Amino acid sequence: MKFISVLATSTAIVFAAFDIVNAAAASYSSSSFTYNATDFLLDGKPFQMFAGQMDPQRIPHQYWRDRLQKARAMGLNSISSYIFWDQLETTKGIWNFTGENNVAQYFKIAQEEGLKILLRPGSYICGEHAWGGFPPWLMEEPGMVVRSYNKPFLAATKAYITRLAQELKPLLASNGGPIVLVQVENEYGSYSDDHQYTEALRDMWKAAGFNVPLYTNDGAGQSYLDGGVIPNVLAEVDGGGGDPQAAFAQRNKYTNKSSLGPLLDGEYYTTWLDLWGSDSPHQVTSASGAKTVMSDLAWIMNNKSSFSLYMFHGGTNFGFQAGADWSTVLTPVTTSYDYGAPLDESGRPNKLFYDIQKTIQAYMGNSTVFPSLPKETPMVAIPSVKMTPMASLFNSLPQPVKRKQVVNMEALGQADGYILYRTISSKTTNGTLDLGDYPRDRVLVYVNGKRQGLFDATYPLPQIVNVNVKPNDVLDLLVENQGRINYGPRIPDQRKGIVGNVTLDGNILENWSIYSLPLSNPSEFVSSKGKASNTTGDSPIFYQGHFNLKAVGDTFLDTKGWTKGVVWVNGYNLGRYWMIGPQQQLYLPGCWLHKGQNEIIIFELENTNSTTVTGVTTRTWGNNANPDVPITKSS
Ligand SMILES: *[C@@H]1O[C@H](CO)[C@@H](O)[C@H](O)[C@H]1NC(C)=O
Ligand SMILES: *[C@@H]1O[C@H](CO)[C@@H](O)[C@H](O)[C@H]1NC(C)=O
Ligand SMILES: *[C@@H]1O[C@H](CO)[C@@H](O)[C@H](O)[C@H]1NC(C)=O
Ligand SMILES: *[C@@H]1O[C@H](CO)[C@@H](O)[C@H](O)[C@H]1NC(C)=O
Ligand SMILES: *[C@@H]1O[C@H](CO)[C@@H](O)[C@H](O)[C@H]1NC(C)=O
Ligand SMILES: *[C@@H]1O[C@H](CO)[C@@H](O)[C@H](O)[C@H]1NC(C)=O
Ligand SMILES: *[C@@H]1O[C@H](CO)[C@@H](O)[C@H](O)[C@H]1NC(C)=O
Ligand SMILES: *[C@@H]1O[C@H](CO)[C@@H](O)[C@H](O)[C@H]1NC(C)=O
Ligand SMILES: *[C@@H]1O[C@H](CO)[C@@H](O)[C@H](O)[C@H]1NC(C)=O
Ligand SMILES: *[C@@H]1O[C@H](CO)[C@@H](O)[C@H](O)[C@H]1NC(C)=O
Repeated sequence: MKFISVLATSTAIVFAAFDIVNAAAASYSSSSFTYNATDFLLDGKPFQMFAGQMDPQRIPHQYWRDRLQKARAMGLNSISSYIFWDQLETTKGIWNFTGENNVAQYFKIAQEEGLKILLRPGSYICGEHAWGGFPPWLMEEPGMVVRSYNKPFLAATKAYITRLAQELKPLLASNGGPIVLVQVENEYGSYSDDHQYTEALRDMWKAAGFNVPLYTNDGAGQSYLDGGVIPNVLAEVDGGGGDPQAAFAQRNKYTNKSSLGPLLDGEYYTTWLDLWGSDSPHQVTSASGAKTVMSDLAWIMNNKSSFSLYMFHGGTNFGFQAGADWSTVLTPVTTSYDYGAPLDESGRPNKLFYDIQKTIQAYMGNSTVFPSLPKETPMVAIPSVKMTPMASLFNSLPQPVKRKQVVNMEALGQADGYILYRTISSKTTNGTLDLGDYPRDRVLVYVNGKRQGLFDATYPLPQIVNVNVKPNDVLDLLVENQGRINYGPRIPDQRKGIVGNVTLDGNILENWSIYSLPLSNPSEFVSSKGKASNTTGDSPIFYQGHFNLKAVGDTFLDTKGWTKGVVWVNGYNLGRYWMIGPQQQLYLPGCWLHKGQNEIIIFELENTNSTTVTGVTTRTWGNNANPDVPITKSS
């Protein structure tokens, strides 16, 4: 009971100055949350954070309370959350704090449920989210260099911090709210070491009124800490699976003492993410992995330190929110962000949940009673839904813009989705096509609607597509943005579409019609029935289907037999499917379904052996060893 009552009765009182130097001198009598060299202090008493990561913008807002209650039921007392700036400011200066973007509401619910918050607002957050949370329009700002001491970048970040302060200031612990810590940047030491930038960022958060302790979170290595630690900002480390002792020892060895304080493993990885086309199966915790998690967490708690599980609940990269990595090829993140986390993608506890619950319970003692799990949302199965081809993309294109040379999608004010580049051949040519610097990311090539080949950065580069055209032939390049890279040295340039000139047999192709296809309203495509009956060529097709439900519930939409595309249900973009796996179904939250009639729209890029989809109550995972299409590779 102690555990619950401490949380339930914590009253927050205004207190402002926070860095370790001031904290040591401060009077705690009126404090809410601070720290000294060894402990976080809640109302002056040592407070260990048993936290888990869960990002509001990856969870339908209707399910926020359910997920937060389940965190408490597992024994957590705190939640870490990233904020995705790109979702809040999709157009420069125009802000959206409604629905899943109503982050203040999420933190209010967390407080009602007795949880403290570790706020991780970036502005760069990584998180396997598109471009680490940066809005794509940043790419078009003159002189922009993200994650550095750069005037345009600092100005855009300042506008974000200022607007976020308006939402979140009342929710800081210093103002009676649940937010006890605010992270500055994210693992900056893995990226660079521009201290002028990180110190400017620190000062911006403080100036905007974020007067709770600030912290950094870096990999547990000397060079990461050298690059990432900011003077007078609490330095924490992440990782450490199997050896949190070593991670903490690294942090303590760090010589810039002004940044040291209590220890928090800021990202203790419960499992890992899935990537499209990966050789690895879906990531889950093995029995021995679960043992390691339990003994590591027990060690951290007995060390009187804190942890934040990454992830407690991953949720879903709905729509086009998934990011991508780049090793030697592009590795886009799956739509599912299940992460093998204790609460699975659909919000249901798995074995790891109970293992961790047991571990925290053992540390707290049996007199501490965790709240019980809330009633589970039911699962529903949806019998086979007939999908009807409604429109071919090539026969339902929007108005194009005309350009002599191709331009990247952001230059047309487009953030996500697809973009079609079309030119009419003026002469006879038979040769290879070259698409500027490299495919960004998947480019289907057509002549007169017939598919000629494919470039795809998720397969080894370079790739060769041969094209044979005569005067007046129509050459189409349909480019898919498969997710902006969220980690590593390619961060500075995340333009999508085509960057550079398109050449055929060495000659620059000119006079383009460019069609932006963000697909934000797919109904526009299916409303004019009959278009798809003209199935000449290999055009991508929009399909539509309807189904009736007597009762709503969660389900997994099975896209077996379909190749690659996007699914919407009742206007909600569920994200991408791709037969290569490991993801094989899309999570469809029950709160987006209606009793009675529901609508499915599918945009299929290639071809399909199926004319139906189903909703299943048990999901499966599987890697398809064969790529979806043959690729011509050059050595
Ligand atoms: C930090 O505060 C706690 C609680 O008052 C105390 O037990 C601990 O000794 C303090 N640590 C240091 C280094 O003063
Ligand atoms: C604001 O964001 C929410 C959540 O993504 C979305 O449902 C809503 O349509 C957006 N509103 C506008 C006007 O774009
Ligand atoms: C750490 O300390 C060294 C030596 O005092 C100093 O040169 C360096 O700038 C400090 N770095 C940070 C991030 O405080
Ligand atoms: C926690 O671990 C650190 C790093 O190994 C060590 O320096 C510290 O003494 C430990 N604290 C406790 C209370 O065990
Ligand atoms: C706590 O409860 C568990 C499960 O009922 C039991 O196995 C364990 O012995 C109890 N521990 C103590 C210290 O009473
Ligand atoms: C075009 O070039 C390719 C590759 O060099 C060749 O295989 C093909 O026969 C050529 N087609 C015509 C119509 O010349
Ligand atoms: C594309 O070609 C035009 C015309 O030759 C040239 O002016 C321009 O610099 C080229 N762009 C790139 C990115 O190479
Ligand atoms: C592009 O259009 C302009 C104006 O109509 C024309 O002069 C030029 O020859 C065209 N370029 C090509 C490569 O066809
Ligand atoms: C059918 O599609 C072709 C190729 O896109 C187009 O040229 C033709 O006009 C279309 N016919 C009808 C009847 O829409
Ligand atoms: C469709 O069937 C063909 C022939 O059996 C197979 O090669 C292809 O992989 C199938 N496609 C999908 C998306 O299942």
